[in-house]
Amino acid sequence: MDTAQASAVTTKTITFRIWRQDDPAKPGHFDEFKVPYAKGANVISCLMEIQRNPVTVEGKRVAPVIWDAACLEEVCGSCAMNINGRVRMACSALIDKLEQPITLEPMSKFPVVRDLTVNRDRMFDALKRIKGWVPIDGTHNLGPGPRQAPVDQSVMYVLSTCITCGSCLEACPQVTQENDFVGAAAISQARLFNMNPTGKMNSEERVRSLMGPGGIQDCGKAQNCVKVCPKEIPLVTSIAVMNREVTKLTIKDIFFQDEAPKGHGSGPG
Ligand code: SF4
Ligand code: FES
Repeated sequence: MDTAQASAVTTKTITFRIWRQDDPAKPGHFDEFKVPYAKGANVISCLMEIQRNPVTVEGKRVAPVIWDAACLEEVCGSCAMNINGRVRMACSALIDKLEQPITLEPMSKFPVVRDLTVNRDRMFDALKRIKGWVPIDGTHNLGPGPRQAPVDQSVMYVLSTCITCGSCLEACPQVTQENDFVGAAAISQARLFNMNPTGKMNSEERVRSLMGPGGIQDCGKAQNCVKVCPKEIPLVTSIAVMNREVTKLTIKDIFFQDEAPKGHGSGPG
């Protein structure tokens, strides 16, 4: 490699357009940055580089960009953002596979906290709504627990890999910041806990929680969720399974109206 080639390699840069917003109530704008190219870099490593030297292409020193990340290996779910217009995990988004300039924007279905950080409370509220846990009584030794068929285990394992990233909600046309549709992740978690041999005891409660406003009936079957899920969870199948359960319970309620519990999800809207 001659000197000119070497200099071309060392001066190669990556251009980013990054959404800046100081506060949810304030208007936002884009800042453009250039960072030195590094082989194998991902979006988070470039954001770290920008954080070290937050100077825009116009030479203006600005506040460092704010974003969320923790595990850096697609486990915590906190780094979901729109990258070149598509929601994905910033920690696994390799620069070499992205067109430049690389545009980073916060997810639009969640309130912005600052820059690329959003408030994902609605994901956790949805898990509370569907009772996404197996209740146990006390801390005494419960023994080995019921046996599970390997065929169920293999389905449940995939469902259990949800990282609550919110990508499925971001891609869903039915989800807006103004409505309270629970979304694909929570519906899939209801399926997971209803498959658990102990969790089955509360299965009717979970199915009932998917009825009513913001429940499974709000799904428009666009199937975008399954295309963006970083864990490749079969979300459309989960929605179909839980839809069937909701229909069965609705029919049961029609015939046994006096026995149907009242409250959240007491009927399909
Ligand atoms: S179902 Fe997939 S896309 Fe949705 S929150 Fe879980 S991991 Fe993310
Ligand atoms: S940093 Fe945890 S999923 Fe990306």
